[in-house]
Formats: sequence, structure tokens, C-alpha cells
Amino acid sequence: MKILVINGPNLNLLGQRKPDLYGHKNLQEINTFINDYFKRVKLEFFQSNHEGAIVDKLHEADGNFAGVVINPGAFTHYSYAIRDAIEAISVPVAEVHISNVHNREDFRKTSVVSEVCQGTVSGFGVYGYIMAVQALAHRVKRDAK
Ligand code: DQA
Repeated sequence: MKILVINGPNLNLLGQRKPDLYGHKNLQEINTFINDYFKRVKLEFFQSNHEGAIVDKLHEADGNFAGVVINPGAFTHYSYAIRDAIEAISVPVAEVHISNVHNREDFRKTSVVSEVCQGTVSGFGVYGYIMAVQALAHRVKRDAK
């Protein structure tokens, strides 16, 4: 089973960007942490600061991955293009936020992607990626029965 993990804008700066909120690991270390956790799930990682590149990657995921985990960064709050791409593909998508978007600024409380995702994990740090991969992998196994 293959799951794609997408990180959006500014998440390439993890480790140095607001470590009090997002932790001290850089993106490479986070990806290694996620990868090391799973024995039977193959993971591919993608990061982009560009909306269109994320839309293209979501389209590519259709038919090639069993699930997608996405942290759309600030695009979460206003990108209808990413929202529509998630809706257009038939792969289940899980939304992740490292921080708790509900106890921060008001604009972060709105997600335009949540309604087209299977579920959302927010506020559990980088462990949220593991929770989301686990939930998608469980769903794929359940659907196969
Ligand atoms: C984030 C929360 C977003 O509001 C923010 O723009 C990010 C990161 C998170 O992981 O907590 O870039 O998605």
C-alpha cells in the first residue's frame, strides 16, 4: 500500500519556523520519523510552496496511491483550487495540521478543504501525520474486506 504525504507552503522551513508551535525537527527529519514508524506502508513525500504544483500532485495521486495525507499550510484557509482537486480525485485524503488551528488566529479556524477530506488531525504536533497515515491505511484494509 502506498500513501502520499504532501506538505504545502512554508513547511520546508520547519525546524526554524516558530519552533514553539511547530517543533524543532526539520521536514527531512519529520519525513524520516513518519517513514520509520511504518513497516508495511510505503510512503512518498512531496513539498511545494506553489498551489498549482500541489494541484498537479493531487491529480497524479489518483490511481497511484491508496491515500493522501496533506498539510496544505496557509492554503488550507483559502485555496478553492486545492479543495476542488481533492474533491475531483477518488483517493481518500486526510488533512493534517501540526498546530491546533482552533486556538490560534481567527483566520486559521476556517478550512476550505475539510469538507472534502475524510478527516482532520490538528494540534498533535508531527505525530498527527502518523495518526493520519494510520487512519487511511486502516480504511484501505477495511474496504478491501
Ligand atoms: C499549519 C497551520 C496553518 O494555519 C499554517 O498556515 C501553516 C501550518 C499547521 O501545520 O499547523 O503553514 O497547517
